[in-house]
Amino acid sequence: MQTIRQLDALRESVRGFRAAGERIVLVPTMGALHAGHMALVDTARRHGDRVVVSIFVNPRQFAPGEDFSRYPRQEHRDARMLSEAGVDLLWMPPAEVMYPADFATSIVMSGVSEPLEGAHRPGHFDGVATVVAKLLNQVQPDAAIFGEKDFQQLAVIRRMVADLDMPVTIIGMLTQREDDGLAMSSRNGYLVEEDRKAAVAMPRALGVAERAISEGRDPQAALEQAREILTAAGFEIDYVALVDSETLGEPVAGKPRRLLAAAKIHGTRLIDNVPVNGD
Ligand code: PAJ
Repeated sequence: MQTIRQLDALRESVRGFRAAGERIVLVPTMGALHAGHMALVDTARRHGDRVVVSIFVNPRQFAPGEDFSRYPRQEHRDARMLSEAGVDLLWMPPAEVMYPADFATSIVMSGVSEPLEGAHRPGHFDGVATVVAKLLNQVQPDAAIFGEKDFQQLAVIRRMVADLDMPVTIIGMLTQREDDGLAMSSRNGYLVEEDRKAAVAMPRALGVAERAISEGRDPQAALEQAREILTAAGFEIDYVALVDSETLGEPVAGKPRRLLAAAKIHGTRLIDNVPVNGD
């Protein structure tokens, strides 16, 4: 596996892949890799000849007071995992390569970026869109893979790629979970043992509400029940919501719906989501 930190070296490698007629698939990450990320890597392998993984902890998607400075950084471990998984190229730009001192451009999203995470983390999706646009321009992949774990992020990126006519296929990947159902996340490492146990309330609350809604019961009552489960487990809720899967706005009759939640347990913020069965 090549590890590359400079743009000219990246371009040269990518040119080589292209000259050989190879299909390139990109998996963007912020590192601290877990089995969820590695599932994206496996999927990438099936969609192309060359797998490129990026690791960049993007300061522009963290608000002041969020966990940018303590976000886990495990470069050596990550590089070993990716190399063992057969990744061809690890793109790990330093902050000054991604954002030189005179950097002045931002992608500003609206619509799908506004509710839910957008409302609770102002500016977050503009930071995500800007860095993902840059990563796509840097690597110029045929396809890029994103997890449904960050369901709204996936919708925001699909929107941006469509709106800006970016020549890349976006592939969504199912959420990978621990044995007890907790969605894998680099942030799960923040949880002390007791909170890690309580965190199972997140998938449980979503599962209970999903079953009620798919059985045709009142969605508002089902959301309330999910909120009660989360609160009883010690969570402080940001939102529990049922939305249209594509627009993330109000559900529309006959269109797929998604159930999403975000909540904090002793300062660690977890997000999760599930499709509504039968939609
Ligand atoms: P990060 O949180 O490192 O996640 C990288 C990718 O892995 C994202 O597409 C995310 O949805 C996916 N992922 C994380 N946990 C997953 C799980 N349990 N199952 C399936 N996929 C999972 O998301 C980001 O980084 C950043 O916002 C990024 C897109 C790299 C832009 O900075």
